[in-house]
Amino acid sequence: MSSNRPDRRSLRTRLVAGQLGLVALVCAVVAVATLLALRAFLVGQLDTQLAEASHRGIVFVQHPGDGPLPPPPINAPGQRDGTVTGLLGSDGSVYDATRLTRGTGRAHVLDGAQIAALRDVPATGVPVTVDLPGLGSYRMLASTTVRGNVLVTGLPMSDTQDILLTVGLIMGGVMVSAMAIAAVAGTALVRRTLRPLHEVADTARRVTELPLHRGEVVLPARVGTAEPDPRTEVGQVAAALDRLLGHVGTALAARHASETRVRQFVADASHELRTPLAAIQGYAELAGRAERVPPDVAHAIGRITSESRRMGTLVADLLLLARLDAGRPVERAPVDVTRLVADAVGDARVAGPEHRWRLELPAEPVRVLGDQAQLHQVVANLLANARTHTPAGTAVTTRVSAVDGGIVLAVNDDGPGIPAHLLPEVFERFARGDGSRSRAAGSTGLGLAIVAAVVQAHGGVVTAASVPGRTTFTVALPHSQPAHSGGTTPPQGVPRPSGHDSHRTASRP
Ligand SMILES: Nc1ncnc2c1ncn2[C@@H]1O[C@H](COP(=O)(O)OP(=O)(O)OP(=O)(O)O)[C@@H](O)[C@H]1O
Ligand SMILES: [Mg+2]
Repeated sequence: MSSNRPDRRSLRTRLVAGQLGLVALVCAVVAVATLLALRAFLVGQLDTQLAEASHRGIVFVQHPGDGPLPPPPINAPGQRDGTVTGLLGSDGSVYDATRLTRGTGRAHVLDGAQIAALRDVPATGVPVTVDLPGLGSYRMLASTTVRGNVLVTGLPMSDTQDILLTVGLIMGGVMVSAMAIAAVAGTALVRRTLRPLHEVADTARRVTELPLHRGEVVLPARVGTAEPDPRTEVGQVAAALDRLLGHVGTALAARHASETRVRQFVADASHELRTPLAAIQGYAELAGRAERVPPDVAHAIGRITSESRRMGTLVADLLLLARLDAGRPVERAPVDVTRLVADAVGDARVAGPEHRWRLELPAEPVRVLGDQAQLHQVVANLLANARTHTPAGTAVTTRVSAVDGGIVLAVNDDGPGIPAHLLPEVFERFARGDGSRSRAAGSTGLGLAIVAAVVQAHGGVVTAASVPGRTTFTVALPHSQPAHSGGTTPPQGVPRPSGHDSHRTASRP
């Protein structure tokens, strides 16, 4: 059924259309009622005139009593122009059938068809409407004379019809004007009434565009100012949305406070752990230097040394992440990326002599503004991954290129690739492949999280693409990151990722 079909027109269009429909209906009812009443009134008036004219005719033909009929035309004095008079014998004879011509006052004889129409008028003394061929509509009244003849008298309805037509046209004009006014005024009125609703929608839209899932969120101004009266429907919607925004704001503030507390706790804990860890490492080293230590004790001391070193790295990683999360601005010193990458690949070559290390650098050194140590860690983490998560003999190519507005660093390897299930969340904290190889290598799953956090803090973008035999991490960094690192345009060469967190993405080519 059509009533179930959704109406795609806007609320404004529907309201104005409904309003116009109503105005048209009311105008039509008023016009029809007026015309019917006017017609009844005019016809009644005409019938009174007709009764008088018929009476004059009867008096004229019956005068003088039983004497002979007056000679045709039977033209009673006082009849108005256009009056039709017919005196018809009961035997079918026609004594007279004429029409007074307008203006001249002379009589015109009616033709056969018109006389036949006169005959059809019932001699009841009640007026009827008759169509006289060639002459139009007539109100006619037939009465029987004392001699038994039928006197038919008729008055033209043309005047009545003219008046009705004129009034009809005037009403039509009024109706069109009323609809035009209703359309213009209605549109303006509906637009004004619905304006607060647009502001409600606007506010809701602005809230949906906010990154609600992290950081401190400032919700937009309340909508209640647009339509503060809660008695109106729009006011109720605005008040409900405001209450909702209030709750959401409180929840987000609580979330932010708890995140800040956790971050602070991690930062404090990591910081506090550094001193005892350093002490453990120091004592372990000291104990390791002692002579004549039984082999099992020497093994235990070796394990203490390596595990405490690993824990030191972990604590340092956690501290760095906590600091980056806190949104501390990074140092902005010129960093020679060419040199930094060359050094890092040199270190990787020493650490992984069984891999094939390739380096492609631009002819001119390229620089960015940033934190040298942090950027070094980015490259080192990517190279460490290419070494630890691929078998010996894997070729690892590190490429640096200058692009418009910044640099692009790509680390590519032809190893087995990142497991498909891991790829979408490879930049998440503690996300790691569960291969025994990773565990054995002391993997914690923080390396890429640090890469993503550092790159984001530098206003850049990092992406991962991986299929077996081809894994590429691409880092795009602007020459200088803005003071506030969020919302930057990354340099060309790396597609701007979609989603909330614009600085990390993983993709499979
Ligand atoms: N080049 C690569 N080839 C194959 N898998 C990779 C590669 N780089 C990363 N991965 C996978 O992604 C996971 C996450 O890497 P990430 O560097 O974050 O942690 P990790 O290397 O396991 O530990 P950490 O770097 O903290 O010592 C790894 O465990 C590994 O499974
Ligand atoms: Mg790693």
